[in-house]
Amino acid sequence: MAIQNTTRRWGSLSQLLHWTIVALLIVQVTLAFMADDLPIGMRKLTLLARHKSFGITILGLVILRLVWRRLNDTPILPDTLKAYERFLARFVHGALYVLLFAMPLSGWMMSSARGFPVSWFGFIQLPDLVPKSKPLYEVLVTTHETLAWTLGVVVILHVAAALKHHFILKDDTLRRMLPFTGKNERT
Ligand code: HEM
Ligand code: HEM
Repeated sequence: MAIQNTTRRWGSLSQLLHWTIVALLIVQVTLAFMADDLPIGMRKLTLLARHKSFGITILGLVILRLVWRRLNDTPILPDTLKAYERFLARFVHGALYVLLFAMPLSGWMMSSARGFPVSWFGFIQLPDLVPKSKPLYEVLVTTHETLAWTLGVVVILHVAAALKHHFILKDDTLRRMLPFTGKNERT
C-alpha cells in the first residue's frame, strides 16, 4: 500500500496517523476519567502525568499530520455531495483539527498555571506556557473541560457522517481511510 495520498485514497501514513490519534484519544479520555474519580495522591498524579504525556504526543502527531497533508494530495470529496454537505464536511474536519490543537494546549497551559511543569514521559521537560496563577488555572480547567465535551460532540457528527457514507450512501469514503480496502490509484 502506498505511503502517499492520492486524489482518491488516503495513503498508509495518513491512515496510520488518523487511527493512532483516534486510539490515543480513547486512552486520553479513559485516563482523565479514571483520575477524576480518585482522591489527591500518587495514583491520581501518575494517571494525570500519563494523560499529559499522551496529550503532548497527540499534539506532535497532529502537527506531523498537517505537515504531511500539505506535502501530498488530498482525496477529493465524492461529487455526489451537495454544496452544503461539502461545506459541512470541511467545517467538521476543520473543527476537529482546531480541537486537536486546543485540547493539548489548554491542558499544557492549565498545568503551567497550576505551577506543575509538564514532562513528556519523564524524558523531556517542557517549558511553562503561562505564569503560575490561580484565577487563570480555574479558567483553563473549565476551558479544557468544555473543549473535551465539544470534541465529543464533533466526533459524534464525524463518525455519524462516516457511517452514513458507508451504509446509506454506499460510497468509498470510509474504505479509503481503512487499510487493505482498495488499490491506490493515482489520478
Ligand atoms: C487531545 C488531548 C487531550 C484530551 C482529549 C484531554 C481530555 C481531558 C478530559 C476529558 C479531562 C476531564 C475533564 C473533567 O474533569 O471533566 C481532562 C482533564 C485534565 N487534563 Fe486533559 N486532555 C488532553 C490533553 C491534555 C494535556 C496535554 C494536558 C497537560 C499537559 C492535560 C491536562 C489535564 C489535567 C491536569 C486534567 C485534570 C483537570 C482537573 O484538575 O480536573 N490534558 N483532560
Ligand atoms: C475519535 C476521533 C476522531 C478524530 C479526531 C478524527 C479526525 C479526522 C480528521 C481531522 C479528518 C480529516 C482529514 C483531512 O481532511 O485531513 C478525518 C477524516 C476521516 N475520518 Fe476521522 N476522526 C476520528 C474518528 C473517526 C472514526 C471513529 C471514523 C470511522 C467510523 C472516522 C472516519 C474518517 C474518515 C472515513 C475520514 C476521511 C474522510 C474523507 O475521505 O473525506 N474518523 N478524521
